[in-house]
Amino acid sequence: MSQQVFLVTGATGAIGKAIARQCAIDHNHTVVLACRNEEKAKSVINEIIQLTGNLNVFNALVDLSNYQEICQLAERWSGPLHVLINNAATTPRRRQETRAGIELQMATNVLGYFWMVKAFTDILKDSGSAQIINVASYWAGDLDLNDLEFNNRPYNNNIAYRQSKQANRMLSVAFSDKLKAYRINVNACHPGDVNSTLSNNLGFGGYETPDQGAQTPVWLATRPYEQQSTGGYYEHMRAVPCLFGRGQEAIQKLFIRCETYTRR
Ligand SMILES: NC(=O)c1ccc[n+]([C@@H]2O[C@H](COP(=O)([O-])OP(=O)(O)OC[C@H]3O[C@@H](n4cnc5c(N)ncnc54)[C@H](OP(=O)(O)O)[C@@H]3O)[C@@H](O)[C@H]2O)c1
Repeated sequence: MSQQVFLVTGATGAIGKAIARQCAIDHNHTVVLACRNEEKAKSVINEIIQLTGNLNVFNALVDLSNYQEICQLAERWSGPLHVLINNAATTPRRRQETRAGIELQMATNVLGYFWMVKAFTDILKDSGSAQIINVASYWAGDLDLNDLEFNNRPYNNNIAYRQSKQANRMLSVAFSDKLKAYRINVNACHPGDVNSTLSNNLGFGGYETPDQGAQTPVWLATRPYEQQSTGGYYEHMRAVPCLFGRGQEAIQKLFIRCETYTRR
């Protein structure tokens, strides 16, 4: 069996680290961690190698709130990519902006996923069959297409987070429609309620372990292509109907709005 290549974002965090480790248990998998902090990433890689014995675990340095850095990561990528797991997210309690002037949750949680898919589409297409897992949440809603960056309403990190996770679910449907012809499946999921920097910033702890949180994304990521579907939303390894995936007009509007950011 040839090596399957996985790219996991936010793998220095609670759930991302567990996702990367679970993916690395199978030595036919090469696992690349897309992280912004080199020291943290090195330490996670050493831990995963020690625990799994899989030497094919690497780091790819990138700030996922930055469009240029994502494009550069894709440009320097060599070889195939079979599974992209978009998982990195943030929820600062006070409104912050990136250097490009984009509200940080919009930039990281929404555009970070969007740009990764866009930047890696050709590589995924050339890899035979591939899939994208967007780690979203059941904690989703409040999307305001006319105020994605909280310019006209008071910033509240909980609302901004819920909006970003709704967007993840909507954009998964948009990408699944666009990419299915190329044998690229796109699905969204809720991981689990896990104690993490992110969940603490939202004001809760979490009752599931990181390994439990990683279970659904890893299950989606490791199913044989023939057993996969596309455009779904999953919780606890089961497809769940998703209202956000049905509003085609809003989905298209959001997609177009996201595309405008590449010109900013
Ligand atoms: N925890 C939960 O209960 C829960 C529930 C539902 C959904 N989720 C979803 O699960 C995913 C993982 O959450 P988590 O709880 O594991 O969060 P976490 O422990 O806070 O980890 C977040 C990860 O994202 C990375 N990250 C943030 N901004 C980044 C940037 N600009 N560039 C590169 N990396 C960046 C962080 O890197 P650093 O280490 O460098 O900060 C970290 O690796 C998220 O998509 C979240 O929405 C979580």
